[in-house]
Amino acid sequence: MRSLIDITDLSKEEIAELVDTAQDMIAHPEKYAHACDGKILAALFFEPSTRTRLSFESAMQSLGGSVISVSSAASSSAAKGESVADTAKTVSCYSDIMAIRHPKEGAALVLAKNALVPVINAGDGGHCHPTQTLTDLLTIYREKGRFDDLTVGLCGDLKFGRTVHSLINALSRYSGIRFVLISPEELKLPSYVKKDAIKDRGIPYEQTEDLMEVLPKLDILYMTRVQRERFFNEEDYLRLKDSYVLTPEKLRVAKEDLCIMHPLPRVNEISVAVDDDPRACYFKQVRNGRYIRMALILKLLKEA
Ligand code: NCD
Repeated sequence: MRSLIDITDLSKEEIAELVDTAQDMIAHPEKYAHACDGKILAALFFEPSTRTRLSFESAMQSLGGSVISVSSAASSSAAKGESVADTAKTVSCYSDIMAIRHPKEGAALVLAKNALVPVINAGDGGHCHPTQTLTDLLTIYREKGRFDDLTVGLCGDLKFGRTVHSLINALSRYSGIRFVLISPEELKLPSYVKKDAIKDRGIPYEQTEDLMEVLPKLDILYMTRVQRERFFNEEDYLRLKDSYVLTPEKLRVAKEDLCIMHPLPRVNEISVAVDDDPRACYFKQVRNGRYIRMALILKLLKEA
């Protein structure tokens, strides 16, 4: 059974195919309107979500399929103590494909090992978030026309930000990638991600706390929210939450073709005044997320 738990479950060739299909879906949505007729997606969301859950629902419905969902841990049998493994066996009886978001790292993998249908990881704790990365990759491709030869700045909560971990894992497979890791000391990229995806692959990178010092050289700036829900104490969160706030004034030193990204939700990291800047790509990411998930659902159902 083919599932998507980690972005490296997909080869570079498969990512290129998904990006092509998503672009075709954007141009000719009518061609795909019945591609998944009669199929059911189960959306199991045990953590808050707006974009990811609704984009999965929108994607499945745009393919002619339908959706059943759990929208909070409190409203499901998880609250009664049901294991993820038992949930997998149960929901396999009702659906053809599942997407899961869960606060525990590894939950999607456990679901996939016990499910009889393909499983898509829609975010497992502070670990990874491969479909956000597909969204990000489609956006980068549409903006830059390539994945190679890019200087990519990742800024904010690199420790708990699962979208950052998956994006680094994906981009480090292309040539000419350079990473600039911008975060407070306490929110640095976890050493396991740095070792596996950056150091062992010999990718050039630098680490800094100072966004302004590195902003002029970036092709992509990926801003992130400080992940309040993963902090052990509120005091640390309050101290760190506004470490970086991107404003139009700061962007004066940036490249004219900088691509400003954010997985959203944003809190304070990007001032709303930046939204009118043509370099702001975060609402384009939202739109792209629907189409790349359509392409992914179609692929996994075809291979099931
Ligand atoms: C991200 C997530 O859930 O990790 N959101 C999303 O899926 N677009 C980022 C975040 O919550 O900060």
